[in-house]
Amino acid sequence: MQRELLPYLSKFPNREGYYGRFGGNHYPREVWPALEELESTYRALRDSSDFQLALEKVRIGLQGRPTPIQLLENSTNEVGGARIFVKREDLNHTGAHKINHCVGFALLARQMGKRKLIAETGAGQHGVALASAAAYFGLECEIHMGAIDVEKQNSNVGRMRLLGARVVAATAGQSALKEASDSAFNAYVEQREYALYAIGSAIGPHPFPMIVRDFQSVVGQEARRQYLSLNGGVLPDHVVACLAGGSNAMGMYSGFLDDADVILHAVEPLGKSGEVGQHAATLSFGRPGTLHGAQSIVLQQEDGAPAQVSSVASGLVYPGVGPEIAMLHDLGRIHVATVPNDEVIATFFRISRSEGIIPALESCHALAFAIKLAARRPSTEGILVNLSGRGDKDVDYVLSNHADDFDRSLEVVAGQQASL
Ligand SMILES: Cc1ncc(COP(=O)(O)O)c(C=O)c1O
Repeated sequence: MQRELLPYLSKFPNREGYYGRFGGNHYPREVWPALEELESTYRALRDSSDFQLALEKVRIGLQGRPTPIQLLENSTNEVGGARIFVKREDLNHTGAHKINHCVGFALLARQMGKRKLIAETGAGQHGVALASAAAYFGLECEIHMGAIDVEKQNSNVGRMRLLGARVVAATAGQSALKEASDSAFNAYVEQREYALYAIGSAIGPHPFPMIVRDFQSVVGQEARRQYLSLNGGVLPDHVVACLAGGSNAMGMYSGFLDDADVILHAVEPLGKSGEVGQHAATLSFGRPGTLHGAQSIVLQQEDGAPAQVSSVASGLVYPGVGPEIAMLHDLGRIHVATVPNDEVIATFFRISRSEGIIPALESCHALAFAIKLAARRPSTEGILVNLSGRGDKDVDYVLSNHADDFDRSLEVVAGQQASL
């Protein structure tokens, strides 16, 4: 880990796993010994040069790191304001940032003598990444996925199966990411003797949020170096990430938390509207509560049960955020914005056509916000966006459900070309 990041990252969490008033371990006592074993193994390995070397080898070989940062030249010219840069996490092997912590968990499992990895997945990106890491390291893999997402993200289900993973459909409640997490956790409790829970985001009880953040911090470390070198030693003015549990956001923010002048933006899904059940904008509408073993901010019904959530991006359909994100929000370090489904779809078409990049619907939230921000800021400013994943998984869904929007977007382009 890079030296200049240590002042912030080593301060949190405290010994009990808290980030300010958030975090901790609120899972049943029977699981505590397994989590303590995970924490002590991780802390010992984190500082071992052998472990870091092994991780680096996989990052370069299997994953294809470092991913580049790129100026979105066409979008910047179209908007005419601040320059928009993207960190191309979509170019990771398996197509998203999730593999950054999956390879870490796979290495940890090997060190702990576990033979199996278990996890939940929303859009399927984490599931595919984990299945790939498991195959690479010769481990078994079991992925829990909401039944709705099994249907919607069918290509990712096929990929997981091809990679040797068993896919379990979660059919309770909304049959989405929260239910997949419940189901994966139950499976982990039963199999903890020989399995490791490779959680999909910077959520869950201590030590998961810390481990995921640390493995994801490679994104922010690289991006900081690359941005400085592309921009004559100047830092970005704004850093933007979409937000569900917070793995891509924490990864990206990790490079800039100590730079007080860099404004950090988290972009939440406003879904169909701001009505309860129509969105998944946790920091915008949630309140303190406990979810998946940690205290954090949670979208809740009046009786305190997790609220129904909705977004066109399966990977953002989650009623909570990781505890560190909740603390940074409490401290005023993160600025929160929301983007509704229709703008997400419009951005999917826009970036595909103007940049030659098909972004994941999750990442389109960050891109949509960045484009609006750029229009309001001067050309001297720079905005760095975490382009967390690629949108191949979304193509079938978008084209079959938003054909009218697609036709309209073609008319806009035809109009623009005619006026040239
Ligand atoms: C491409 C992509 N970006 C972002 C997310 C949101 O997760 P997180 O907040 O943990 O980064 C997901 C989740 O599936 C995803 O697949």
